[in-house]
Amino acid sequence: MSTASPSSAVVAEDVSKVFFSGTDPVWALEDFSLTLEPGSFTCIVGPSGCGKSTFLRILGGLEERTVGEVTLPAGEDRIPAAFVFQEHGVFPWMTVLDNIAFGLRMSGVGKAERLRTAREWLERVRLADFADSYPHQLSGGMRQRVAIARAFATGSPVLLMDEPLGALDAQTRMLMQEELIALWEAERKTVLMVTHDIDEAIILSDRVIVMSGRPGTLREDITVPFDRPRSFEIERDPEYSALRARVWDLLREDARTAEETA
Ligand SMILES: Nc1ncnc2c1ncn2[C@@H]1O[C@H](COP(=O)(O)OP(=O)(O)OP(=O)(O)O)[C@@H](O)[C@H]1O
Ligand SMILES: [Mg+2]
Repeated sequence: MSTASPSSAVVAEDVSKVFFSGTDPVWALEDFSLTLEPGSFTCIVGPSGCGKSTFLRILGGLEERTVGEVTLPAGEDRIPAAFVFQEHGVFPWMTVLDNIAFGLRMSGVGKAERLRTAREWLERVRLADFADSYPHQLSGGMRQRVAIARAFATGSPVLLMDEPLGALDAQTRMLMQEELIALWEAERKTVLMVTHDIDEAIILSDRVIVMSGRPGTLREDITVPFDRPRSFEIERDPEYSALRARVWDLLREDARTAEETA
């Protein structure tokens, strides 16, 4: 039976995925269901290889599902979902401005509007002075700001982020978390983000989805109880420590197994 949900929600129902590589099939996901309310921020945590990236790719139409249903909100004339990847998400041969405008080209937006929107987003991520630079001339944090700006600029109602801050040093990462949440609070896109960092998941999201080891299933769907806007101050709250410990308890065994069988 179909779950009742607003048409602008993202709905995945009983999604399973099997890969055939070599002789043995690999079940990456099993009966994975998730509904994301419009404008919500959700993080997925799970052991390595449990199918997190596969799930994002299925949602965004980059990968076929073996079984199950996926519904994304109609994105007007625009692409339904925009991706941000950990690394290599920006084109090295394009300038910063062209990288941001590229997402809009994929959506069929005319050139003048593309450039206007891209410049606006460059301002918003404080990269206006780097419009004509190439990605290799930027720091890792700046490159990820380009990737994030490109995703927001597409106009897609849904942003799918696969460890977008995973390659950054700890301090840059904390600054980027603040920037990302400020952009999201202003735009209220539906964000689904994969992270290995439990603190990041709690600080950023409305819900933390904990997955089991492969084949990835839903282990727990946890509502984060802290009000917004949030600051890193919440880390001092005893409720924060309890939540952190709970998530780690849910992950620990599967993370060890994944590590030993990698
Ligand atoms: N194209 C593919 N062909 C064959 N197997 C694949 C393919 N893509 C993923 N897999 C397998 O599916 C499983 C899930 O992979 P996936 O990349 O989704 O995991 P993940 O949860 O994102 O892991 P990580 O935390 O390391 O990024 C793994 O066993 C992986 O080897
Ligand atoms: Mg992955």
